[in-house]
Amino acid sequence: MSLIREVIINKKNNINPVWIMRQAGRYLPEFREIRKNNPDFIKLCLNEKLSSEITLQPLKRFDLDAAIIFSDILMLPYGLNQKVEFKKNLGPILGDLNLDEVSKLDEIDFVKKIYPVYKAINLVSKNKLIKNKTTIGFVGAPWTLLVYMINKQSPKLKLKDNFFKDDFLINRILIILEKFLKVHIKNQIDNGAEIIQIFDSWAGLLNEKDLPNFVFIPTLNLVEYIKSLKIPVICFPKGIKNYKNYCEIVKPDAICIDYEVDPIKISKEIKIPIQGGLDPKILLTDKNNLKKNIIKYLDIFKDHPYIFNLGHGILPDTDPNMMDYLVKTVKDY
Ligand code: CP3
Repeated sequence: MSLIREVIINKKNNINPVWIMRQAGRYLPEFREIRKNNPDFIKLCLNEKLSSEITLQPLKRFDLDAAIIFSDILMLPYGLNQKVEFKKNLGPILGDLNLDEVSKLDEIDFVKKIYPVYKAINLVSKNKLIKNKTTIGFVGAPWTLLVYMINKQSPKLKLKDNFFKDDFLINRILIILEKFLKVHIKNQIDNGAEIIQIFDSWAGLLNEKDLPNFVFIPTLNLVEYIKSLKIPVICFPKGIKNYKNYCEIVKPDAICIDYEVDPIKISKEIKIPIQGGLDPKILLTDKNNLKKNIIKYLDIFKDHPYIFNLGHGILPDTDPNMMDYLVKTVKDY
């Protein structure tokens, strides 16, 4: 069994597998080279030959324990026929959402539109670089996808004033998302994804009272579905204040923590396997500081099933040598 599955399924606490969110991406010159010739990001995600190659790029350089498929959470709204574009320095920009059209959309048409994503997973999972390692599939959580679909751009740029007002609209979209997210998850698993991570990057936008309706219940529905397919699920509710509460309600197989979470506190509060935590900015400092901080996390989680990762995606400015040093330091521990 792969090390990551050993940690999650068998609760092993004497091994330290490592993978990194956004490990396939802009900090790697070989990715930038491919990206230069492929200015349309969506088209690149839909090119199974290139997207599988990009997925494997970090595994050729570093002794990582997983490949996370090179795709994007916004392939889902794209599959629902909402326009999605990635603009330099702005990030994703979405078109208007036509709810009536989306409500009528057929599952088969959705799958057809993003089929190369599944083919890429298939290619990756059969590659010899993946032997004894884990192929990770992923989705955006319903809430985070809804944020992009209604706000049509990253909340980092601007958040619509009336965002939380229209409960009816929000609930209608959440129901549609649940249906298509299940289809998306099932197809990833059927093509070789051995773990699913649910990214809820904007869970932290909500106050306590809205979490049950918009985060807990919709995510719990997906977690139960993934468990019914006998595949482990990792949840990443970035920015929420009470991870313990989240784990008790949503019950993921493992929880990914962000860089604002106090690792000592959470190691005492939460029994399930934990992943991540280290601030990606630490990789922009120096090797001594990086080592010190890696050891800090590994020491704190010494007796806890723990998968090493960062507390959010690796930053584009990261020197690949720092990534190399990180992986070696974890493996030498
Ligand atoms: O290596 C991996 O982790 C797999 C690939 C992956 C991408 N996006 C590729 C990508 C994954 C898992 C994602 C998830 C994703 N996408 C999230 C959840 C995680 C998070 O970061 O909070 C979110 C919110 C998105 C939406 C998204 N995609 C944004 C906001 C942006 C622009 C910001 C940025 O970092 O540039 C993207 C673009 C994107 N997705 C890139 C990559 C490699 C950069 C594209 C480029 O080359 O310009």
